[in-house]
Amino acid sequence: MIGTENMKQDEIDSCNAAFWDELCGSQIARELDLKDNSPGSLKKFDDWFLEFYPYLHRYLPFAEMRGKRVLEVGLGYGSVSQKIIDAGAQFHGLDIAAEPVAMALHRCELAGVTDAVALQGNILKPPFEKNTFDWVVAIGCLHHTGNLPKAIEAVHRLLKVGGQALIMVYSAASYRQLARAPLTTMKRKLSGPFAPYRGHTAEEAERRAYDINVDGTAAPQTEFVTKSELRELCEAFSKVRIDTENIGAEGPLAKIPRAVLCKWLGPYVGLDLYCQLVK
Ligand SMILES: C[S@@+](CC[C@H](N)C(=O)[O-])C[C@H]1O[C@@H](n2cnc3c(N)ncnc32)[C@H](O)[C@@H]1O
Repeated sequence: MIGTENMKQDEIDSCNAAFWDELCGSQIARELDLKDNSPGSLKKFDDWFLEFYPYLHRYLPFAEMRGKRVLEVGLGYGSVSQKIIDAGAQFHGLDIAAEPVAMALHRCELAGVTDAVALQGNILKPPFEKNTFDWVVAIGCLHHTGNLPKAIEAVHRLLKVGGQALIMVYSAASYRQLARAPLTTMKRKLSGPFAPYRGHTAEEAERRAYDINVDGTAAPQTEFVTKSELRELCEAFSKVRIDTENIGAEGPLAKIPRAVLCKWLGPYVGLDLYCQLVK
């Protein structure tokens, strides 16, 4: 795919809708030898997902979502949607691509949930009223939209006062960024508190290190932020807490158990920023 560094927003949206129509996690589904979307196959995928991201339950108190209006943005294969649905929340899903929405609806149908809502749409132009949701969950999504500030503003607008959100976006100061461009990364990290946020659209090689589809194409748009940049983008919220998690398996890291890496390195130089917010 051609780089999207200079694309207009509607071109980014079309590229995203096409790229993410292949469910995020499809490569893993292949490795797990999943041939269908039967309850057994979905459970296998979800077990893998929740074991791979064992810290998720610390950020998402699913049991507390029972009866609450919950919006998930960026649905992918739907493992988090499944937990929200199973918790008895009023599930609402939004995704720019058709297949993740179809998967969420399929999961609702399997669970016998008839009042869930899952729509194909754009978080930059959300098809929901303001002050609607008790919870908004957006894992690995907002940094792909092409406009992270506007996406975060939308999350704020959609939440009720006192509502909570969890967003996960990629860290601009992770070990991977440090290894790729040590000086630029250190400069960006250290100047963070004094330099205001500006958009940083990643080039193809950088995007490729994070999200590729089964034929090896990189996600069309990805942005990285430091903790202080993200804090600035979230200043409309009354509470903001940002934690760092997740270590990959490139090069020598493949020799060390993931659990050890995530526990001891994740909180310092991890790939992902988990941002807990209260409106
Ligand atoms: C990396 S996947 C993450 C999926 C899932 N949350 C997970 O953790 O596996 C990103 C998802 O965000 C969706 N997405 C990208 N841009 C979007 C936008 N502007 N509005 C809504 N969804 C978007 C994609 O279609 C895709 O399903």
